[in-house]
Amino acid sequence: MIGAATPSLQQALKSLTSPNLLIDCRSIAPGDEFSLLPEEAGSMATRSVKARRASGAARIVARGFLARLGFPSCALPKSPTGAPLWPAGVIGSLAHDATIAVAAVARTRDVRGVGVDIELAGPLSANMMGLVVTPAERQRIENDPVRAMHLFVAKEAIYKALHPLDGRFLEYHDISVDLPGNRALTRNGRAIELRFCLSTHIVALALV
Ligand SMILES: CC(C)(COP(=O)(O)OP(=O)(O)OC[C@H]1O[C@@H](n2cnc3c(N)ncnc32)[C@H](O)[C@@H]1OP(=O)(O)O)[C@@H](O)C(=O)NCCC(=O)NCCS
Repeated sequence: MIGAATPSLQQALKSLTSPNLLIDCRSIAPGDEFSLLPEEAGSMATRSVKARRASGAARIVARGFLARLGFPSCALPKSPTGAPLWPAGVIGSLAHDATIAVAAVARTRDVRGVGVDIELAGPLSANMMGLVVTPAERQRIENDPVRAMHLFVAKEAIYKALHPLDGRFLEYHDISVDLPGNRALTRNGRAIELRFCLSTHIVALALV
């Protein structure tokens, strides 16, 4: 782990790491906004300091991974769709909540698409349940709001993995998640492998 994020989250994230996939987190700290390179800062110039700080923190983690994979340090600006742009040969995903930033990075020869999302561990609010969870999923999770939160985090991670590949907007109900099977299927036939870790936060990793 980079920065002073909680040890339990550090431990939990290790379970998501594999030889082909690097994932880590960092506590978002004042000053992280200054780690944004000019091209990155230019791609998010209208955003608040808080948002740029979180984006800077995620890019500190991602740049560490680029170095570990033997790639030169480079800017990871936002594309017009919001997705980060990666150098040739690398694919990755970023996420942040109020305090923690996460980055997941892989080589394109190993993984076609990757998405990551993080939320505070806890239940999904009742008013989000209908928006996020399909009737079939609702039956499978027996209306459990904690498992519903897992579905929410998974679907956000899946969107981040697939949107750069397919350029398609997805609604939550376009994705069907099989939690025990750690997999999901989209309405347009994409099969996704899922990995979760749970500590102070829930982190979902979606792999295409
Ligand atoms: C992409 C999206 C899911 C991000 O969720 P979020 O909770 O707002 O923000 P997070 O902190 O989790 O993630 C932010 C990161 O997502 C990444 N991201 C943003 N848009 C993206 C896209 N289209 N594709 C891939 N990654 C994207 C960026 O790296 C961003 O970090 P950055 O601003 O530092 O570059 C959301 O903003 C979005 O675009 N939603 C529309 C589609 C949707 O929600 N459909 C229902 C779910 S299937």
